Amino acid sequence: MHCSRGIFVVLEGIDGTGKSTLVKTLAKRLGENKRTVHETFEPTATWLGDAVRRSWKENVDPRTEALLFVADRCEHTLKIEQWLQGGNWVISDRYRDSSCAYQGAYLSKEMGVARACEWVDHLHEGTALEPDLVIIIDAPPKITLARLEERDKLEKFEKQGYLETVRAVYLHLASKKGRHLVDGTRSLNDVADDCWSLMEKYL
Ligand code: TMP
Repeated sequence: MHCSRGIFVVLEGIDGTGKSTLVKTLAKRLGENKRTVHETFEPTATWLGDAVRRSWKENVDPRTEALLFVADRCEHTLKIEQWLQGGNWVISDRYRDSSCAYQGAYLSKEMGVARACEWVDHLHEGTALEPDLVIIIDAPPKITLARLEERDKLEKFEKQGYLETVRAVYLHLASKKGRHLVDGTRSLNDVADDCWSLMEKYL
């Protein structure tokens, strides 16, 4: 039986925007609409993802860190490609825009936002896919950090000033690459409804 290619959806945004819960909610709705779906995330739960997490403790140069993320993503992409070819939807909590936003935020100090973004995006040539739909859940770090403080202790990337820059890079990507922005300051139900109306067009 011929099976048409699945749809690749990515949720992006700074830490604490509720992406992992949203992935579950949206996957459930796809299931209710008789679609098969793979939920996934980056950095992955493989040794390459571990290499990325290890680099945080070693304080490596942001370029090195970007290359590690891209290596993890390259292997992840092979799996995503298989799932899509099997006719499954794939929803990923983060993908290539995360590297542009997070590693780009560091590099933007020396290169400016536009060039930093371009430099990181360029690393993906031939190693990553262009998703069918990228949704950026947007919220100010002040709000997301308050949520995270309730949850657990803050990690390396979760500092307000830095996250302001990460958010600025995401907003740059939204205007340059036509990413969809969804207001993440509201309840997760409202945010999920907005994401779902963007996804419904692909059903
Ligand atoms: P998580 O909290 O969504 O699991 O992601 C772990 C951290 O990794 C998060 O703070 C964002 C960061 N990150 C990058 O800096 N670059 C990337 O390419 C990805 C995928 C994540």
